[in-house]
Amino acid sequence: MLSLMKLLSLFLLIVAVAPPAAVDGQLKVGFYSQSCPLAESLVKKTVASAYANNPGVAAGLIRMFFHDCFVRGCDASVLIDSTSSNLAEKDAPPNNPSLHGFGVIDAAKSAVEARCPNTVSCADIIAFAARDSSALTGNIFYDIPSGRRDGNISLFTDALANLPSPLSNASTLVKAFAAKNLTADELVTLSGAHSIGVSHCSSFRNRIYNFSSISQVDPTLSAAYAVLLRLACPFNSSLSGNTTVAMDVMTPTVLDNAYYVGVQRELGLFTSDQALLTQTSLSAAVNANAGNGAGWAVKFARAMVKMGNTEVKTGQQGDIRKNCHVVNTASTLWNKGAEKEAEGESSLVANM
Ligand code: HEM
Ligand SMILES: *[C@@H]1O[C@H](CO)[C@@H](O)[C@H](O)[C@H]1NC(C)=O
Ligand SMILES: *[C@@H]1O[C@H](CO)[C@@H](O)[C@H](O)[C@H]1NC(C)=O
Ligand SMILES: *[C@@H]1O[C@H](CO)[C@@H](O)[C@H](O)[C@H]1NC(C)=O
Ligand SMILES: *[C@@H]1O[C@H](CO)[C@@H](O)[C@H](O)[C@H]1NC(C)=O
Ligand SMILES: *[C@@H]1O[C@H](CO)[C@@H](O)[C@H](O)[C@H]1NC(C)=O
Ligand SMILES: *[C@@H]1O[C@H](CO)[C@@H](O)[C@H](O)[C@H]1NC(C)=O
Repeated sequence: MLSLMKLLSLFLLIVAVAPPAAVDGQLKVGFYSQSCPLAESLVKKTVASAYANNPGVAAGLIRMFFHDCFVRGCDASVLIDSTSSNLAEKDAPPNNPSLHGFGVIDAAKSAVEARCPNTVSCADIIAFAARDSSALTGNIFYDIPSGRRDGNISLFTDALANLPSPLSNASTLVKAFAAKNLTADELVTLSGAHSIGVSHCSSFRNRIYNFSSISQVDPTLSAAYAVLLRLACPFNSSLSGNTTVAMDVMTPTVLDNAYYVGVQRELGLFTSDQALLTQTSLSAAVNANAGNGAGWAVKFARAMVKMGNTEVKTGQQGDIRKNCHVVNTASTLWNKGAEKEAEGESSLVANM
């Protein structure tokens, strides 16, 4: 009996000290609860203060999560800067110049590095920041599993190949999501993110000028809305390079199901938004979401978590990048060893 209890307590001890990255391929809620208990709250604080200063960053961060996960999985490849020998995802047209919020990730990374160096991945910081942004803009709260590791490859061409264009038709969108194991229903659910944030004129110019040989304006775009969009975005595109318009005219700063009501009323901004009405299974989902905000919010949270599992690196795969902008090199790894030594840790190579 006694030995059984000893055995049991030994077992519990082993469980308690086992490294959190025990299971390859699996993320878990509270991954940093032992190694960096403040990680999620530090990110949350950083996002909240950036949002207080500029509410538009929340949309940028939610979009960043999508653009990270769709290209080489959720591995923070979207954060890697181009170098003289490599054009990175960041500089590809789907990201440049429209993707933003990088400074918030940097600030959050600095905050967590100060507390727990070399512990929290840039990829998890993006996932936390997107979650916190959903809470701030939509009162949508969810736990996001973590334990993602960072990648070290970021290619311009991958971003072009994996991120659907706003000119996409329904079948192209369904395929792009299926390629990431996301269903057609999840495509519609996640498109609801277009209920916040802004777009540059270039993303919908095709719909308001010279649309086709028979119509200047896309007939599936509300004519009244087209007038407003033309006012905001003059024909001469060099005059509107930096102009942006709200993507949801009804509740532009609230993450809600008004997006779907907009699509029903031909107020979807992009060809890809309006395309959701061109297949019956997709339009049924649009109608369901338009009629059930609370139901959509639950589905949105679930789909964000699922998207966050896309091709993740875990365990010993990948890295914890020291600086989210650059892949770790011999010198950052050397510094990592030096820091561990300064903290009095015994092994310099434990994490390498
Ligand atoms: C279904 C395919 C999608 C396409 C074709 C698409 C395309 C775009 C485009 C072209 C923009 C505007 C960029 C600009 O010109 O400034 C945009 C903005 C945005 N997208 Fe998507 N998107 C899609 C899905 C998603 C998903 C799945 C999410 C997140 C769950 C998302 C979140 C956002 C957000 C929040 C913005 C506003 C960004 C800001 O204010 O800076 N999008 N999207
Ligand atoms: C959708 O777009 C793709 C790529 O541009 C094209 O090959 C396909 O024929 C289009 N499908 C429909 C139904 O228009
Ligand atoms: C999709 O699921 C299949 C089967 O589980 C898996 O082999 C594949 O890697 C997944 N793809 C992505 C992008 O997650
Ligand atoms: C409109 O599109 C047609 C062909 O699609 C093109 O020949 C014409 O130059 C375009 N006009 C303008 C003003 O862009
Ligand atoms: C567009 O605007 C730019 C900047 O003002 C000007 O230089 C250019 O001539 C204009 N192009 C046309 C076609 O009007
Ligand atoms: C757009 O913004 C960039 C950078 O802020 C600036 O250099 C450029 O002049 C702007 N272009 C226009 C047309 O306002
Ligand atoms: C990227 O990571 C892989 C595996 O972690 C490693 O083998 C490779 O050398 C790294 N490449 C660069 C450029 O850091």
